[in-house]
Amino acid sequence: MSGPLLLSGRKLAREVRESLAREISASSRRPPGLAVIVVGNDPASAVYVSMKEKACAKAGIESRIIRLPDTVSLEELLNRIRRLNEDDSVDGILCQLPLPPGISPGVVASAILPRKDVDGFHPVNVGKLWRGEEGLFPCTPLGIIALLDRYGIAMDGIDAVVVGRSNIVGKPMAAMLLRRNATVTLAHSHTRDLAGLCSGADLLVSAVGKPGFITPDFVKEGATVVDVGITRTPDGLAGDVDFQSVSAVCGAITPVPGGVGPLTIAFLLENTVKAWRIG
Ligand code: GUN
Repeated sequence: MSGPLLLSGRKLAREVRESLAREISASSRRPPGLAVIVVGNDPASAVYVSMKEKACAKAGIESRIIRLPDTVSLEELLNRIRRLNEDDSVDGILCQLPLPPGISPGVVASAILPRKDVDGFHPVNVGKLWRGEEGLFPCTPLGIIALLDRYGIAMDGIDAVVVGRSNIVGKPMAAMLLRRNATVTLAHSHTRDLAGLCSGADLLVSAVGKPGFITPDFVKEGATVVDVGITRTPDGLAGDVDFQSVSAVCGAITPVPGGVGPLTIAFLLENTVKAWRIG
């Protein structure tokens, strides 16, 4: 048994980061600048932000981390964002999620200038994504589309099912697959007969956050399976997909770790450099 094609996000992320580093070092302009705002002390956020900081340094992007206490007022947070909007050395701005209760992620996303919105969460960028226009779009689904392209997996005309309707992954993933001419179903916790629906899909993208949720009965023979779930367990990181049993059915699959995870930061850097090229 040869097993399914392994879609290595780790490899693509490295290629993207190296290509950006070459572009930046060959440029005579000032380096790209990324501002990351972190509110409070979420432990997972601390890990992600430190990974972003290191990845920026390696690529030649100047990062600035703005740490604010979880008692910060919305007014103060919006003031900080306004100052970064006006700062010409800052190309990209993101506010790490989750935010403390009482601070709306939607209000914060709307305060960032659309051309500096490297998370792609501003309503203008969300609208551009669904309208098929140019803009800055969410990093994780951008990375998944690039991964499918990298491995020659066709999207035109396929039946794709995305499980999970978050603003960060599920909804933008559905929009991007639609832009590539897939027939897209966006499934979620209220979907009836989820396994039956998924088992008809040529491409299954799972962003649920429940280890082992996707079993072989969800998967069509030869389908491509993309696992966006990352759950910390006592045994390490676990995806949504029961990798071993699903591997016996599918044609291609992303591992956890080394699949989708590394792509998010690589495409955050890509978005930052995109904003820098334009600015
Ligand atoms: N928290 C988890 N994922 C993300 C992301 O893509 N962007 C931001 N800003 N926060 C997150």
